Amino acid sequence: MAKKIVAGNWKMNGMSDDIQLFADYSKSMNVVDQLDAVICPPFPLLGQARSSFHESLLIGAQDCHHDVAGAYTGDISAQLLQQMCCSYVVIGHSERRQYHGETNDMVRQKALAAQNFGMTPMICIGENFDQRQAGEWQATLQEQLNILADGKVDFANLVVAYEPVWAIGSGARAENSDIIEAHAFIRSQLAQMTDNEGDIPLLYGGSVKPDNVAELSRLANVDGALVGGASLKVGDFSQLVEAFGATL
Ligand code: PGA
Repeated sequence: MAKKIVAGNWKMNGMSDDIQLFADYSKSMNVVDQLDAVICPPFPLLGQARSSFHESLLIGAQDCHHDVAGAYTGDISAQLLQQMCCSYVVIGHSERRQYHGETNDMVRQKALAAQNFGMTPMICIGENFDQRQAGEWQATLQEQLNILADGKVDFANLVVAYEPVWAIGSGARAENSDIIEAHAFIRSQLAQMTDNEGDIPLLYGGSVKPDNVAELSRLANVDGALVGGASLKVGDFSQLVEAFGATL
């Protein structure tokens, strides 16, 4: 069975004071076997998170470069993220694909870089509104997942996050039926690449909030959530962690 994960992606939000609030929260958390709670703050806050979070709250990064080191102004290597004690790296978020031109092949290379330095890539996939309207969501997901088909990635150290682009930041998450259908499809695609597809955590992302998490946490093939807005407040984030914890 896949472990449960609740990951907060702060995007370009959050300040030092916010890290302090989450550090306080981390000290009150119980370490729950089979549930990872993760905060992915902006890069400059990783050091503070490393030195102040209790180990019950894991640290993740929002991106990494595919190369080990070199002349890449503004980029961050996976090796440095490992030194910052990151356990996870969000890879191929739709905002990276949209605003930074990240291609599926770049996503593949970044995922391998993260794994090479002992971190777990959370590979984000998801169709946009037009693709859903045109009935192309399966083809889109299939293409995005195909980067894993060459067998180079370690399936034992991988997370896939389904984030329909139209639900991100919209305030309304996708319908239960759409999520169930998409996650079953993703699982079936992964089953063609590995025998252990059931162990790969599948997260849903897109307007997950305290008031819609309870049902989400009980849907088939939903092993957790990748959360933007609702991960910025300790009170909201803790409710999401509790909801998934209650399913164990
Ligand atoms: P949201 O963002 O929860 O604010 O919709 C999710 C994401 O982009 O990961």
